[in-house]
Amino acid sequence: MEHVRLSELSRSFLTNESIILWWSVANLILVYLTKDEEAMLEGEYGEGKQIAMSLLVDVGEFFEAEKLIDIASAHISGVSYLTGGDGLIDQLDLFVSKGAKVAVPSTLNPCGMDRDHYQDLYIDLDFATKQFRILDNFERMDVATTCSCTPYDFSHLLTKGQHVAWAESSAVTFANSFFGARTNKEDSLTVLSAAITGKTPYYGFHLEEERIPNVAVDVKAIIDEYSDYSILGEIVGKAFSKHAFPFGAIPVFKGLSNPRPQDLKALGAALASFGTQLFHVEGITPEQELIAKASIQDQISVTEEDIISTYEKFRPTAEPDIAVIGCPNANLEEIAAVTKLVKGRTLKKNKAFWLFSSSAQKAIADKSGYLKVLNEAGVRFVTDTCPEVFKYDKDKFKIILTNSIKAAHYIPAPSLNNIPTYLLPLRECVEEMYQ
Ligand code: F3S
Repeated sequence: MEHVRLSELSRSFLTNESIILWWSVANLILVYLTKDEEAMLEGEYGEGKQIAMSLLVDVGEFFEAEKLIDIASAHISGVSYLTGGDGLIDQLDLFVSKGAKVAVPSTLNPCGMDRDHYQDLYIDLDFATKQFRILDNFERMDVATTCSCTPYDFSHLLTKGQHVAWAESSAVTFANSFFGARTNKEDSLTVLSAAITGKTPYYGFHLEEERIPNVAVDVKAIIDEYSDYSILGEIVGKAFSKHAFPFGAIPVFKGLSNPRPQDLKALGAALASFGTQLFHVEGITPEQELIAKASIQDQISVTEEDIISTYEKFRPTAEPDIAVIGCPNANLEEIAAVTKLVKGRTLKKNKAFWLFSSSAQKAIADKSGYLKVLNEAGVRFVTDTCPEVFKYDKDKFKIILTNSIKAAHYIPAPSLNNIPTYLLPLRECVEEMYQ
């Protein structure tokens, strides 16, 4: 038998029979809970789960979810001390003190430093101590401290229609679009609550009707490089940002030929910067049946001139002293591409070239021989963190170069790093920094 959760005031005087009447009169939002979910809410599984369940029910009520659903995995954001500060530590301390543990396989987004090499990457001891405390708290809750924004590269492979709760915007867009899995863009607290309970409210992208394309893009340009996809996402995201769709613009692309997974990752990360959490590509992405049901409210064409003029806006106007690649974190093919371009070359004086990826990818790169070549060419392989949430030494790095539009948006002001950042295709980044 299903149970009903109402606001505390309503619970105190309504009987089950009167609920339907009350709902129709006062238009209250009801979230149906199973017995097990009700028990969590009553604290029978401990205070940690109780807090988490209470928050999810409130979110469900806000979004008018009819019920909660089970999730297969969670990917948790809110990990870097740079962006979370002491408030993040307090929040995690609370859950740990209440004995909270995750109920489903759960991975972590990047933190604010490379755990193994923070001393030689200009991270001060106070920052490192607090970052380790955050990671320790996650470990106590049985979260896998993978510290990467691309869990799908080494864990959490998803199936079409599978419900998950993920929080990192680029990963959400990739999970929804590339795999056809179903997740809303969770925030750091709702995703942690979902991980602890194994549940999420049934609304938004969990419903098929919310996944239907509402805008269309005709790509008339040759889109080839990873950074081309990033630029395409910038153009499309900006063009449709004027609309107030309840769950953002859901573009359907035509004219893209044979994008690689990392290309769609770059496209999704750029679109996510404008609030898009799902896109479809004709003939490529898994939910082709939804393209047939499209309800198009706006459409654009993207030409070669659009791509060139957008590149121009991000072209360096000052000399960069560091190039950062790996936003989202680089997969093995991207690592191989950098390796090929830098092999046997020497960095220009006072230049740095950093490649951001997960420890898991680093281990594979090591076994594959890429790491040795990268080390010899002076590339710093940075793990556990990302170009945005890393705390740069501003005396050393004043101008940044990247091949990712998301990094180009989030590293400059008003971010905490606040460093001017420019964009070039990968090959040109290498030419800029190497002799
Ligand atoms: Fe990932 Fe950081 Fe970019 S979380 S998408 S590398 S800004």
